[in-house]
Amino acid sequence: MATTLRDLDGKHLVLGLTGGIAAYKAAELTRRLQDHGATVQIVMTEAATHFITPVTMQALSGRPVFTSQWDDRSAGGISNNMAHINLSREADAIVVAPASADFMAKLVHGRCDDLLSTLCIARACPLLLAPAMNREMWANPATQRNVVQLRADGITLLGPASGDQACGEIGDGRMLEAHEILSELITFFQPKLLQGKQVLVTAGPTFEPIDPVRGITNLSSGKMGYAIAQAAHEAGARVTLVSGPTALAPPRGVSLIKVQTAQQMLAAVMAEVGQTDVFVSVAAVADWAVRNPLTQKIKKDDGAPPRLDFLANPDILASVANLASPPYCVGFAAETNDLDQNAETKRQKKNVPLLIGNLAQNALGADENELMLYSDAGITRLARADKLVLARQLVAVIAQALSKH
Ligand code: C5P
Repeated sequence: MATTLRDLDGKHLVLGLTGGIAAYKAAELTRRLQDHGATVQIVMTEAATHFITPVTMQALSGRPVFTSQWDDRSAGGISNNMAHINLSREADAIVVAPASADFMAKLVHGRCDDLLSTLCIARACPLLLAPAMNREMWANPATQRNVVQLRADGITLLGPASGDQACGEIGDGRMLEAHEILSELITFFQPKLLQGKQVLVTAGPTFEPIDPVRGITNLSSGKMGYAIAQAAHEAGARVTLVSGPTALAPPRGVSLIKVQTAQQMLAAVMAEVGQTDVFVSVAAVADWAVRNPLTQKIKKDDGAPPRLDFLANPDILASVANLASPPYCVGFAAETNDLDQNAETKRQKKNVPLLIGNLAQNALGADENELMLYSDAGITRLARADKLVLARQLVAVIAQALSKH
């Protein structure tokens, strides 16, 4: 999304750093958390201060950094010399990034011999760890046993990722990038309205080839569909996104199936739909495909402009809605005029319980949109907002409908 949403507004986070090269990523993470509205209190282990200085972290977070349990400065606005209690009491979560193998082992045993470990053991809020270590340290049976125990203790692990490591080796154990930790945290705080549900979303335009280099497509950017896939994932659903060609990165945690034509989109949807609870059809599917696209480029100097012969594409949404036991189906209608009438007619024709109408001139390619919801209950308007904000509101509407479905 082009605009920065303040998805963490009002959230206060303790960001703990333990010793690891990935500590440099904590500097950017601090900035990004603040961009999204969070306040950040940094706590560092002694080892972490060898990798990045408290001065840097204080400058970025705008708050004094705590490193020692013997630090007698006021913490969390209280001067009782109990930073290990006070700092977590005001936090919505503690995030330890990087979390070293040693720190994870300590947590498993409930050991608390420095401020950060004591803070974690004495916490009354969720704890999330972003492990960062060499691949052999991560694969070590002791670390893997600890991972199982930490999860069993209700601690959330973010990553690690796989890839190049500071030591020159390649493998699992690399700390997630700042933007990935940010997105995991935003997801963590979203209400889990679709927990355990399977959601299938189509998005973007389709591309119907004329010859190997030309085709028929439309102005759909895919932003609304991608935002819905993201919002459903944030709400705890398993999400598959079937997308026509777009310039967008798939939302984190969503499985992406890339297609070009309407026929390919139909095939991908039908292969997935069996396990689906909710189908949200956002794609701007081309109404017609070119019959017999040429396998060689049409030459301009062949004389008269080519005559194209068209054939109607399948209606993917209607095909799904008319299955013997369809998932809960949500359609979209982009209209240029007479929205109410066209959208309600389309809802009836396609046999879907919920149809979302928007004006094409407002919606296509834009970061914001305004939605009209048509259902048996009548018409509801979702006021103009960022597409992700609207997608989250829509997910809440869908979750509500599912509970009655
Ligand atoms: O009929 P119209 O194209 O306006 O309908 C829009 C809705 O139907 C959208 O939800 C779109 O994803 C879906 N659709 C489809 N297959 C088509 C045409 C539209 O799934 N061939």
